[in-house]
Amino acid sequence: MNRLDNKVALISGAAKGIGAETARLMSQAGAKVVVADVLGDVGRATVKSITDEGGDALYVDLDVSREDSWAAAVEAAVGHFGKLDILVNNAGLFLGQDFEEVPLDDWNRLVSVNLTGVFLGTRVCAPALRKSAKDSPHGSAIVNLSSIAGLVGAPLDPLYSMTKGGVTVFTKSTALDFARKKDRIRVNSVHPGVIDTEMGQQTIETGARMFSENDTDLALKRSIQRHPMGRLGTVDDIARAIVFLASDDAGFMTGSSLVVDGGLTAA
Ligand SMILES: NC(=O)c1ccc[n+]([C@@H]2O[C@H](COP(=O)([O-])OP(=O)(O)OC[C@H]3O[C@@H](n4cnc5c(N)ncnc54)[C@H](O)[C@@H]3O)[C@@H](O)[C@H]2O)c1
Repeated sequence: MNRLDNKVALISGAAKGIGAETARLMSQAGAKVVVADVLGDVGRATVKSITDEGGDALYVDLDVSREDSWAAAVEAAVGHFGKLDILVNNAGLFLGQDFEEVPLDDWNRLVSVNLTGVFLGTRVCAPALRKSAKDSPHGSAIVNLSSIAGLVGAPLDPLYSMTKGGVTVFTKSTALDFARKKDRIRVNSVHPGVIDTEMGQQTIETGARMFSENDTDLALKRSIQRHPMGRLGTVDDIARAIVFLASDDAGFMTGSSLVVDGGLTAA
């Protein structure tokens, strides 16, 4: 189940957090992985931890907001491993600012990573994914990291929520477009609740500032209480969902939104 043998995967924002765990699990599932990030030292350490366990991994510099950077990353990945079967559009930013006060430059930076990054990743990787799909019984796969904030309203950060809502619908639209063109590239999105990463911590700190009188412990308690299962998510919870969607076990899934939130949006 959920095997990725002989697959090559490129994961954006994979130096740390959900992306790094996804690279580790994909390697354990048999894939060759490309760890792509703006954080060279951290990304190379992630690659080392994977190769130390016997995996096959490569670090490439990638700023998802720049098309030339995507082109160089894909060229390096295909040059090294010979093909590309899986793209995980994982790199993302969270602002945690009141939209009535946020400087326009911060908004533009958010959009350049959360939206332009996903658009460019999909566009630049499409030719390589289309090519490898021809040799694979179930085709190629793109997994986009959206959020519960891309499904329901998020008072903590309406701007982040707007970008993630865009990712949700772009996922469905590109899934339909690739299917119409018979490219055999499946596209699905994952929607995490609050996950225990640096970004997850940033959401707790924002919650403390906005709704909990700067009390981080109280904000954490409230964040946990919002999840009916009574805990925050882990990087492993999310990486497992991503591996599944990238694998041939999800061969009849495209345009779907996989919610992994401990029940938060079920209420
Ligand atoms: N942590 C959560 O609670 C949570 C919840 C829902 C959705 N998500 C989404 O999951 C994804 C991963 O989140 P995370 O919690 O691991 O975040 P994180 O902040 O821990 O890691 C994000 C990674 O993206 C990289 N990155 C940032 N800008 C980049 C750029 N321009 N080009 C390339 N890489 C860049 C960072 O260097 C970092 O390695 C994001 O898209 C995020 O929005 C996270």
